[in-house]
Amino acid sequence: MQKARAAYQPKLPRALRSGRIRVEFGAPTQPVDHAEEIAKLFPHTHGQPAAKIVEGESNLNSGPLKVGVVLSGGQASGGHNVIAGLFDALKAANADSTVYGFLKGPGGCIKGKYKELTAEIIDEYRNTGGFDMIMSGRDKIEKPEDLAACLANFKQMDLDGLVVVGGDDSNTNAAVLAEYLCAQNARTRIIGVPKTIDGDMKNEQIEASFGFDTAVKTYSELIGNICRDATSAVKYWHFIRLMGRSASHVALECALQTQPNICLISEEIQEKGTTLAEIVDYIADVVAKRAAAGKNYGILVVPEGLPEFISDIKTMIDELSNILGKDEKFIRDLGDHAERVQYLSGELSDHSARVYGSLPEEIQEVLLRRDSHGNVPLSQVETERLLMDLVTDKIKLMTSKGETQAKFSTLGHFFGYEGRSAFPTNFDADYCYSLGAAAAQLVRADVTGYTANVQNMTKSADEWVAGGTPVTMMLNMEMRKGRPTPVIKKALVELDGEPFKYIATRRDDWAINDCYVFPGPIQYFGPSEVCDAPTKTLLLEKGACKGGGK
Ligand code: FBP
Repeated sequence: MQKARAAYQPKLPRALRSGRIRVEFGAPTQPVDHAEEIAKLFPHTHGQPAAKIVEGESNLNSGPLKVGVVLSGGQASGGHNVIAGLFDALKAANADSTVYGFLKGPGGCIKGKYKELTAEIIDEYRNTGGFDMIMSGRDKIEKPEDLAACLANFKQMDLDGLVVVGGDDSNTNAAVLAEYLCAQNARTRIIGVPKTIDGDMKNEQIEASFGFDTAVKTYSELIGNICRDATSAVKYWHFIRLMGRSASHVALECALQTQPNICLISEEIQEKGTTLAEIVDYIADVVAKRAAAGKNYGILVVPEGLPEFISDIKTMIDELSNILGKDEKFIRDLGDHAERVQYLSGELSDHSARVYGSLPEEIQEVLLRRDSHGNVPLSQVETERLLMDLVTDKIKLMTSKGETQAKFSTLGHFFGYEGRSAFPTNFDADYCYSLGAAAAQLVRADVTGYTANVQNMTKSADEWVAGGTPVTMMLNMEMRKGRPTPVIKKALVELDGEPFKYIATRRDDWAINDCYVFPGPIQYFGPSEVCDAPTKTLLLEKGACKGGGK
């Protein structure tokens, strides 16, 4: 497989294949919100026009360029193809151009740790998953000394451009760096690339983040396998938690692909103000109804981000964040878990203290951790186990009252890391290679503070259109660590969007009847409609398909 994939030639949009590439610009742009604040914070880079890469007389720099690349945050399949696309496009424009890979994420830019990426290195990683070519990290280039260190390193390397491959936080960070470098009259141009399996960095200009396609297809294969096992053994309820820190796009797409009995969507739960107890009641009701129909088995899909969307848990997490903001070191230094709980119980509001106190010890501890962007590491919260325990208790209660005769045995699963470094699907392989090539053209166009994009992606790659979105166009102000901060607006599941509406009309049927779909493994070789298809989410969003599964 590794050898066969190495020979795969990713498909590019027509304009990027052409020997005559030009970049055209539209009208000035506005941020999604808080235009005045953003303009003040980004005096050099706000309002830039959107860019489109077309075939025509070239208006791009054809001199030799030195361009760095950094992979930021969680792995997402296709990262190596971004680098390959960047490398091939720069070399095609000028064989003397050089690409440098910063090591272990943005920290590599700060510390000046990098290596030259030669053709031999690139060839070894074409069409492979993972980020192991140069590794990744979650450092943030934020403090004045970090920005100054980057400036010094880039100057020393004589760097014309830096391509930052990351999600919403990393692309925001790229905008901050671009603005800083402009203010310092530095020549290094900063171009972002939209990456995250979570699928939440998307908007009118960016149709999807890369890695989502591969991740959801990997998980869907596994869920389909479990559906088949469940209908064979007929004795287990499988509670499957799926990665996706905040938005429920991953769970939603996997549900469209496999049609489980229950798929919780965090955004809906938030919108309706559903409590944890109500979620448990709903699941127990489905368990009882299926049992009454002779089915003591089932499949439940729960998004990793759920805890932050349940109102009382969200309030408690926000309160914890504020307490950690002022007392983090003190809390960390407290001798043991019991002391931490006691201290926090005194600091939290009564209701939040009760919610915190009701959680298992492991979850209480995880909720005290934050990453460099202030996020709770939700991949470590075993929400599926919490739900399994609570539903078990509820079924016991219902049994004692004679309300059900369900036999309820549960198995828990978490699918996350296994989907982030799989061989990229053809879609992600093509998309990422195109993004890398687009980023190269944007550096050649001498623009900065842009995120590379590819549009029209429900069509064949030949008809895709690549370009660049000014990052400031995607910004708004949000409270982060207690301060108003410019960030790219995270795309959550829209309840009036087609993917959710489709699920909402089908889920009562899926709950009781076995409507499972078994997608099987990702296909890399074969007919295009099987191997190159985008996600059902993208097809439904773009009106290119009417239904989800069968
Ligand atoms: P990015 O936002 O950096 O793409 O990472 C997303 C993600 O895969 C989440 O789905 C998950 O919650 C998190 O990373 C896990 O983080 P880590 O890799 O640090 O354990």
